[in-house]
Amino acid sequence: MYLAVRDIKKSYGENESYIQVLKGISTNLEAGKMCVIQGSSGSGKSTLLNCIGGLDPVDSGSICVDGKEIVGLSPQLLSDYRRACLGFVFQFYNLVPNLTVKENIQVCEYLAKQPLSMDELLETLGLTQHQNKFPSQLSGGQQQRCAIARALIKNPRLLLCDEPTGALDSETSRDILILLDEINKKYKTTMLIVTHNNSIKNMVHKVILIKDGQIHREYDNENRIPPALLEDL
Ligand SMILES: Nc1ncnc2c1ncn2[C@@H]1O[C@H](COP(=O)(O)OP(=O)(O)O)[C@@H](O)[C@H]1O
Ligand SMILES: [Mg+2]
Repeated sequence: MYLAVRDIKKSYGENESYIQVLKGISTNLEAGKMCVIQGSSGSGKSTLLNCIGGLDPVDSGSICVDGKEIVGLSPQLLSDYRRACLGFVFQFYNLVPNLTVKENIQVCEYLAKQPLSMDELLETLGLTQHQNKFPSQLSGGQQQRCAIARALIKNPRLLLCDEPTGALDSETSRDILILLDEINKKYKTTMLIVTHNNSIKNMVHKVILIKDGQIHREYDNENRIPPALLEDL
């Protein structure tokens, strides 16, 4: 099992402001699978992703990624884990405005031991002809593709996406989802994707529904629908 989450609990604040956000979450994901996490706003989706990504410490429980326990790691080892294993994609692209597309991606390329080929990645993401542009010269979808390329250049084994299409129109969202599917096939990247986008449920291997900090339902898709065939997103 690539990812094994066992009974994780996470709270914020103290006394009157105390809130338990994750109330004992357990789940698994096999290597190379795409998983969607859904749930209403405030249900704990981002918190779960941030805990798995080592950005936020849990109160208790266990998170094993590729056989390694990440709960309780020192800040240095957590930072090594993020650098070696993870790619992050957020709703807002967080590109560096005064760097070009290629330079934005290069920033992460330098961190990697065995980066992917820049030219191949630019091509896969449809960015070849935009590589020397600045973020402000790109559409939202192009900026998100650049952010995805930046997350992927180091060939992370686990890609964590928090509402990657949240700021995009439906057609562009579909393009991004098709792209994530292609990347999953091509690079065998394991993916956890938080999204409000409903049809995406049909194209991924696994779906997790979170309600009020707990897993309400989870299931595997026996028959996946390729994203290109999805009509409405
Ligand atoms: N850093 C924080 N400090 C205090 N409360 C937080 C913090 N992060 C999230 N929360 C609270 O945790 C709950 C779940 O948030 P979040 O995981 O962002 O939900 P979702 O991503 O599902 O919308 C919300 O009630 C939110 O206000
Ligand atoms: Mg969120």
